[in-house]
Amino acid sequence: MSEPKIAIIMGSQSDWKVMEHAAETLQVLGVAYEVKVISAHRTPERLVAFTSTAEARGLVCIIAGAGLAAHLAGVTAAHTLVPVLGVPTGGGPLDGMDALLSTVQMPGGIPVGTLAIGKPGAINAALLAAAFMARYDTKLRDRLAAYREEQARKIPETPFES
Ligand code: RP5
Repeated sequence: MSEPKIAIIMGSQSDWKVMEHAAETLQVLGVAYEVKVISAHRTPERLVAFTSTAEARGLVCIIAGAGLAAHLAGVTAAHTLVPVLGVPTGGGPLDGMDALLSTVQMPGGIPVGTLAIGKPGAINAALLAAAFMARYDTKLRDRLAAYREEQARKIPETPFES
């Protein structure tokens, strides 16, 4: 694959079980990506170093996954003009509601496009990022269309006994 165009970052190794679905989806679509563990509160210097080169490295989107108070996506967005998609990774005593609200309720001025809690959000973040890129890449547009066709093929017309 060529230079990573999308970055997937997460607050902890423990978020990987959710965020790996974003990586897998980008892989299926043939979109180059990089993956890093960056914590806004535990490794703030790593976050600054990462965001300071994000534009120059040609990133078109950053997918940020975090749980609990989940300020990673918002702090990342504050440090760069590269668009940020936030995935509340879920878990914890509030089952991801804390991460959802802290990611989606950004005050006006610094946007974070927030996806669903957990695996569906990770998959959709990848699909959404790819959909934006596909506006300028007809081959990716065709792969995205094929992904949807394949998805539709897997849906039975009539339910079967499970
Ligand atoms: C957040 O705290 C991380 O994004 C993770 O979802 C959560 C728990 O982190 P660990 O204690 O598993 O490292 O910062």
